[in-house]
Amino acid sequence: MVASKRFSPDLAPEDFKEAQQIKELIEETFLLAGSFDIGYYLPFLKWIDLHGIVFAMKNLHKKRELFMKKLLHDHREKRGLRAPDLIDVLISATDNLEIQSDNNDDVVKATALSMINAGTETSAVTIEWALSALMNHPDILWKAHQELDTHVGQDRLMDESDIPNLKYLQAIVKETLRLYPAGPLLLPHESTKACTVGGFLVPAGTQLLVNVWAIQRDAALWERPTEFDPDRFLNSGKEINVKGHDFELIPFGSGRRICPGMSLALIVVTYTLGRLLQSFEWFAPVGTVIDMTEGLGLSMPKLIPLEAIIKPRLPLHLY
Ligand code: HEM
Repeated sequence: MVASKRFSPDLAPEDFKEAQQIKELIEETFLLAGSFDIGYYLPFLKWIDLHGIVFAMKNLHKKRELFMKKLLHDHREKRGLRAPDLIDVLISATDNLEIQSDNNDDVVKATALSMINAGTETSAVTIEWALSALMNHPDILWKAHQELDTHVGQDRLMDESDIPNLKYLQAIVKETLRLYPAGPLLLPHESTKACTVGGFLVPAGTQLLVNVWAIQRDAALWERPTEFDPDRFLNSGKEINVKGHDFELIPFGSGRRICPGMSLALIVVTYTLGRLLQSFEWFAPVGTVIDMTEGLGLSMPKLIPLEAIIKPRLPLHLY
């Protein structure tokens, strides 16, 4: 959607290399952004760059810059030859001075890269956690399959328009975002003015990290807080959604800095997960359970990537 690109195994070798490259750049970005750096907390140690994170970030920046430069160049060359994507829209907006800046190219590159970074890894990680949790809970997986078979059937593929009828699938996505939020500490916020929160004085310029991971597993707010149970959203009699109003569940944040991609993310995650479930039976390799340990990085990926055995469950012509 950002650059009119797809990542599929049948790409031409050059495009496949490019897709692989952006995947690695995104992974590295999230790993570094979520790394602990002592110089950040003890500024007098900053200059040593003890963990080499600043060095690694500068290196990463050079690679990202090259990548985005090429993307921008290709877009300028092919402008008008196909349906416009986000990069084309940004180029037009900066060229027509709808967005004003000292350096138009930087605005386009930075905005497009923000979208790629913020939208890709978060959604992918959420889908991977959801599948992992489901494979460790065959009863819940069975219910998800039942719902898909009832509301979509097995003679056509699930479509985006089916989502409103798939309440259990939506509850699975919510429960995944509760236990495995892809932004466990949100993004750092900073107070522009002094204020009082819950009786505490917060001076201007204070950095705030919101531990959503802890809130969403708090035993004072949730029954059986660590249990993966999508039914909790269907049987509680209280509508809790993830859109920033119910503070016990804010995987996208809340208020003015709430994730601007939330609506898209909910559709992409629910749709992709639904299609993967509708299309396949999912099994853990014989004699194993899926490991649910959290790894390092801003988006809280799994420590051990999901390995699964899948079996088609629809007529072959649908694949
Ligand atoms: C399951 C998927 C996603 C999750 C869990 C997620 C979560 C978040 C969270 C927690 C924040 C920080 C909010 C805060 O600090 O209050 C955020 C910010 C952001 N998200 Fe998402 N996000 C997802 C998908 C997306 C998508 C698909 C896009 C765009 C295509 C996107 C674009 C952004 C951007 C640009 C920001 C930064 C906003 C700012 O700095 O003010 N996100 N997201």
